[in-house]
Amino acid sequence: MPGSRNCRHPLLTALILPVLASLPVANASVLAAADKEHFLQDLLSRMSLAEKAGQLQTDYVGSEANSRQSVKAVTTGQIGVMVANPYTPRARLREMQDAAVQSRLKIPLLFAADVVHGYRTIFPIGLGLASSWDMQAVAVSARVAAVEASADGRDMTFAPMLDITRDPRWGRISESPGEDSYLASRIASVTVQALQGPILGAGDSIMACIKHFAAYGAVEGGRDYNTVDMSPLKLYEDYLPPYRAAIEAGAGAVMVALTVLNGTPSAANKEMLRNTLRRDWNFQGLVISDHGAISGLMTHGTASDARAAARIALDAGTQVDLGDSLFGDQLPTLVEQGLVPMGTLDAAVRQVLSTKYDLGLFANPYRRLGLARDAPHAEKRLHRAQARDVARRSLVLLKNRNQLLPLKKQGTIALIGPLADNRIDILGSWPASGRPGQAVSLRDGLKAALGGKARLLYAEGANIADDLQVFQLLADNQVAFDPRKPAAMLAEANAIARQADVIVLALGEARGMSHESASKTDLNLPLQQRQLLQAMKQTGKPLVLVLMNGRPLTLGVEGDMADAILETWFSGTEGGNAIADVLFGDYNPSGKLPVTFPRNVGQIPLYYNHFSTGRPFDPEQPTPYKSFYFDTDNTPLYPFGFGLSYTRFELSHPTLTSQHLVPGQTLRASVQVTNTGPRSGETVVQLYLRDVSAAVSRPLKALKGFHKLMLAPGESRTVTFDIDQSMLAFYDQSQRLVTEPGWFEVMLGQDSENLLKTRFELLPARD
Ligand code: BGC
Repeated sequence: MPGSRNCRHPLLTALILPVLASLPVANASVLAAADKEHFLQDLLSRMSLAEKAGQLQTDYVGSEANSRQSVKAVTTGQIGVMVANPYTPRARLREMQDAAVQSRLKIPLLFAADVVHGYRTIFPIGLGLASSWDMQAVAVSARVAAVEASADGRDMTFAPMLDITRDPRWGRISESPGEDSYLASRIASVTVQALQGPILGAGDSIMACIKHFAAYGAVEGGRDYNTVDMSPLKLYEDYLPPYRAAIEAGAGAVMVALTVLNGTPSAANKEMLRNTLRRDWNFQGLVISDHGAISGLMTHGTASDARAAARIALDAGTQVDLGDSLFGDQLPTLVEQGLVPMGTLDAAVRQVLSTKYDLGLFANPYRRLGLARDAPHAEKRLHRAQARDVARRSLVLLKNRNQLLPLKKQGTIALIGPLADNRIDILGSWPASGRPGQAVSLRDGLKAALGGKARLLYAEGANIADDLQVFQLLADNQVAFDPRKPAAMLAEANAIARQADVIVLALGEARGMSHESASKTDLNLPLQQRQLLQAMKQTGKPLVLVLMNGRPLTLGVEGDMADAILETWFSGTEGGNAIADVLFGDYNPSGKLPVTFPRNVGQIPLYYNHFSTGRPFDPEQPTPYKSFYFDTDNTPLYPFGFGLSYTRFELSHPTLTSQHLVPGQTLRASVQVTNTGPRSGETVVQLYLRDVSAAVSRPLKALKGFHKLMLAPGESRTVTFDIDQSMLAFYDQSQRLVTEPGWFEVMLGQDSENLLKTRFELLPARD
């Protein structure tokens, strides 16, 4: 596993190595390919049509009453995959597995769940993990999730979510790795390897089902489930690489998106599923529909009825039906009538059986159902130290006027805001089996950190939303709403704030606002929260804004009012402690944004690696007939890659070992980084490249490497990046990966805007 080598963080090393050491040795039979082939062939030859269709059908573990129905369906071989989501007692899963092993062919069930950023211990949401730019931290979060979820009987997770997105209106940006395909690809492969462990059949590994294939993050207007339409160049260059990286890392399954891509719904997209995924990328695993994606073919208007939907989806390469019952209901007749070839059905069934085999389920159907001995929510089952450490690495310091932060543990601190004493939202969307009761709120965290050294006062100040109605249509609408009048809440906050030396104001979103089916057109804080911020500013006290949210926000004038801003996303079970660590300087913030923050919604999509236009706008020398908005500052509010520290780092001396790169050889870029500030800290040195002239337009800069490193005050180090031809490749108009000789710019910096530049020439290949 990548996280275990050269581990820079002693805490992480200590935590991850025992996990690795505890992995059981593989059962030899799990690995014997010939045995496996023989086994699968024999089983397949004994299956009835109905049993075959049953293996392609999922069901959800529901209420106890529903469960009885499901058990019946399992006993008669009508269900192959069971989704146990959210927390379902292990006893219920056992009952289901008992039914499966008592069915005619004794084919075990495969249990799946959405374990997206932790299972019992909740880690930061996707955007938060990506903000760490720390692959060991990402690995730890995934490994812990696998250990916890497998101990509760889950064999597979619908994760990692790898949808690149450049639209913060889309609520699912919260789950995503952000806007950049290089960073996302690194996260993809680390996460897959950490979830699946060295041996998939091990009791504490779970299979990764990456999602949502493909390009779900590019829904038009950021409106969930909307159409996706993009050029092949953009698709191949920016949106597909993270999925591909995950496949190359061995991801066992792929979930197709609910959306239409360039005119074809993803569940019916033969080109993407059979050609790109299987033929070009050599994917050998399982393809699962997203919830309702097969019946969705009818609403998309590409299948006339249920029979057509089942036939088209299977033919395109979708192998498992999630959230519909069309495969189970329709496929047997379709095959009998000769409308679906038996070979197509068999290939999908074989894939399901093969997956179960690889997961060790035929060797032991209870492989992941017997491990946890403690009560489900026992405190000792949590991995708090890991969660705290990963969470603090995910926090991004956006602003720190007059070095207001870190705060001193003295005097009186007023903690205000609807997210300050909130253990629900801090867990973020898809909180799996995470419990608010086990989460550390910011108030809990500050209290523990202060240990009585300073007075901590608290007021809620405002509700998260101006109107409870907002939540009526949200999929996750669990929210604490204070019935008091806004004026009364504000008055209380004012009275508290006036007694304090400093105000810590926790504002943002409810977790359900940045979730599936939670798109919005306005990225400002809700009015009540803005009014609270203005009131706090008027007290004249130093003001620290702690943001908890699942998408970039347009902070406008309120952002200007805050003296310091810490972006904490939704930071998980240990969020409150992690934020306190940063606020008091027990941890020096090191996170960097994985997405651009726009100044206003009208700038969207706004991302760092855009093309040049034919008429680029120069803010230093503005002139008409250029590409710009005349009614706003055209720069981002905060650029991709940006994040401050309590110390300062300076980059100098960018050098290349040569001005020329000979194809097949490597050249080395280096830059000196010095900690010129007062304390130890980590920064992320980022490498961007630009192809100055090519047959197709190339981005002004594209991330190609990064190193996160710790430096003591005064310490200097040289950071190096090896550049080879593969890093200069791009997709041409025929989706072929090519490189062209010519000049390339090398840019090095600590964010995507402030960069030191040098250049080299890629020489033509010699025949
Ligand atoms: C979501 C998926 C999720 C699935 C199962 C769908 O609505 O789009 O991301 O994995 O439900 O819960």
